[in-house]
Amino acid sequence: MNKIFVTRKIPERGIGALKKAGFAVEVNPDDKVLSKDELVAWLKKGSYDAVFCLLTDKIDADVFAAAGKQCKIFANYAVGFDNIDLAAAKSAGMMVSNTPGVLTDTVAEHTFALMLAIAHRVAEADKFAKAGKYHGWEPMMLLGTDLSYKTVGILGLGRIGSRVAYHAAKGFNAKVIYYDVKRNEEFEKEMVDLKGSPQAIFCETPELLLSQADFVSIHVPLLPATRHLIDASRLKMMKPTAYLINTSRGPIVDEKALAEALENNIIKGAAIDVFENEPAIELGLIGLDNVILTPHIASATEETRSKMAELAAENIIAALSGQLPPNLVK
Ligand code: DGY
Repeated sequence: MNKIFVTRKIPERGIGALKKAGFAVEVNPDDKVLSKDELVAWLKKGSYDAVFCLLTDKIDADVFAAAGKQCKIFANYAVGFDNIDLAAAKSAGMMVSNTPGVLTDTVAEHTFALMLAIAHRVAEADKFAKAGKYHGWEPMMLLGTDLSYKTVGILGLGRIGSRVAYHAAKGFNAKVIYYDVKRNEEFEKEMVDLKGSPQAIFCETPELLLSQADFVSIHVPLLPATRHLIDASRLKMMKPTAYLINTSRGPIVDEKALAEALENNIIKGAAIDVFENEPAIELGLIGLDNVILTPHIASATEETRSKMAELAAENIIAALSGQLPPNLVK
């Protein structure tokens, strides 16, 4: 019987799918991230045929070696896979999979939750009301900024970036500008208004986008080329009235530089779900009112986390049946 190790408690649908496929499933009984040494010890002891891992597990050559030759796949429970050393996976002959698609809508929704919350000062207003400071309607109280009819800049027009772009244009009549390493003319053709005017415009450089956008939303994967894509100098290129939203990966933004930019009103605000050194958060951000922080929960809905678990399980089932997993990362 094939044995699967799940590095942390996940939604039941994933476990159920693996059991239904006839596998023995062992879940880390402590609901906490395993250190590398703990993970290596589990894998050496267990002789598993597949590992269901999380973005908080750092998977490298030592981990693959501990998993052994009988292990066929590490199925990551995330669309991002920057926690896995792909070169080491290749040398070890290990398949790696991720969970694209099923979380697109949810992450796009969370992006708008952040965008609207920072622009409409929702967190500040909540704090204000709960502190008993509301003594009556005031014309000038807690004034925010509209999203409608503004320019939304999308950095990275992948699945999630293009969904955010679509909702921004179609739902909020925003002008969308985007930067990606590749222009997407198909997408541009679909993004026209009723009069046939373009609703998505390609920017040749990130700089061009940053200087025009009222809201900059980051949707690029974490790669050597995207680390600190947003640094102090690029923050200075943004409008002083602009907001930065990040639901991709923390190290894409230089978090210290962001805290300084917010403190010094270089930009108006930021709302971020991901951090440079998770779970640590740059202290400079904590006391600021012009930033909203959520703890890497952009995909965290009951529906989506279950679908992600099911998809990761499907990848394992395919790999152990001698097929290519549907979401093999190459
Ligand atoms: C991912 O899938 O990469 C998200 O960051 C967590 O759902």
